[in-house]
Amino acid sequence: MEVTITIAEMKALRREIPGSVGFVPTMGYLHQGHLALVKQARADNSTVVASIFVNPTQFGPGEDFDTYPRDTERDLALLEKENADIVFIPSNEEMYPEGFSSLVEVEKVTERLEGSHRPGHFRGVTTVVAKLFNIVEPTRSYFGQKDAQQATVIKKMVTDLNMNLEITVVPTVRESDGLAMSSRNIYLNPEERQAATVLFKALSLARQLQERGKIDAEYLRQKMTSLIGKEPLAKIDYVSIADAQTLEELTEIDRPALASLAVRIGKTRLIDNMVLE
Ligand code: PAJ
Repeated sequence: MEVTITIAEMKALRREIPGSVGFVPTMGYLHQGHLALVKQARADNSTVVASIFVNPTQFGPGEDFDTYPRDTERDLALLEKENADIVFIPSNEEMYPEGFSSLVEVEKVTERLEGSHRPGHFRGVTTVVAKLFNIVEPTRSYFGQKDAQQATVIKKMVTDLNMNLEITVVPTVRESDGLAMSSRNIYLNPEERQAATVLFKALSLARQLQERGKIDAEYLRQKMTSLIGKEPLAKIDYVSIADAQTLEELTEIDRPALASLAVRIGKTRLIDNMVLE
């Protein structure tokens, strides 16, 4: 496994790769969710590239950029085990040199949900991912369903800007009690970790109700909200039942829908989602 920290070297390595390249962008502190993307990339491509970069431009003021967990050595050991071929770990200066002034912005689908609660977040994500795509030139790139809106935004960027790669979305990997794996779960103390299961419980309730034929979206939102309300450590940012494609809020579940939510457990903000077929 090759590890590189410069864009020049990453590009030089890329030029020597003959077949398909599967690319997994990450912010590190890897868990089984990230590794599911690497496994899928490994299965689909002759070469696998992963990146580790805690991207400052996608964190708002007062968010957790400074405290975001980092453990590069452990990450490299995990990637080695998954047979990744190249790991790209650029510095902030390498990615955003003095005078950097270009941004990639996807409109509309970024205005809702995460976008409305984290202004500028998706502009940071699309800018860094566009840069990474230009540096790595992947055949395919892999994103998690865990961040459903992010995957939708990236797909839109690739389509709108005619980027020359395929996007694959990989199902959410969960702990045995349903909590979606996330680098941020490390912030939770034992009591909060227990409380955090309320996200999966609320999504499961939405799915159950929908499977039983409830199509009133507001009824589902209310049921989810009241279930989360019973957990004293949880504070809702949003609870959404939206069109799975456009992410516009639904009145009736008359098409594929996405139940999604953002909840603060203590100081930790967690997100999760479930597709309602
Ligand atoms: P990060 O949060 O490190 O996530 C990297 C990738 O892993 C994303 O595509 C995310 O959706 C996926 N992922 C995280 N948890 C998952 C889980 N439990 N199951 C399946 N997939 C999971 O998302 C980012 O980094 C950044 O925004 C990035 C795309 C790297 C741009 O900076």
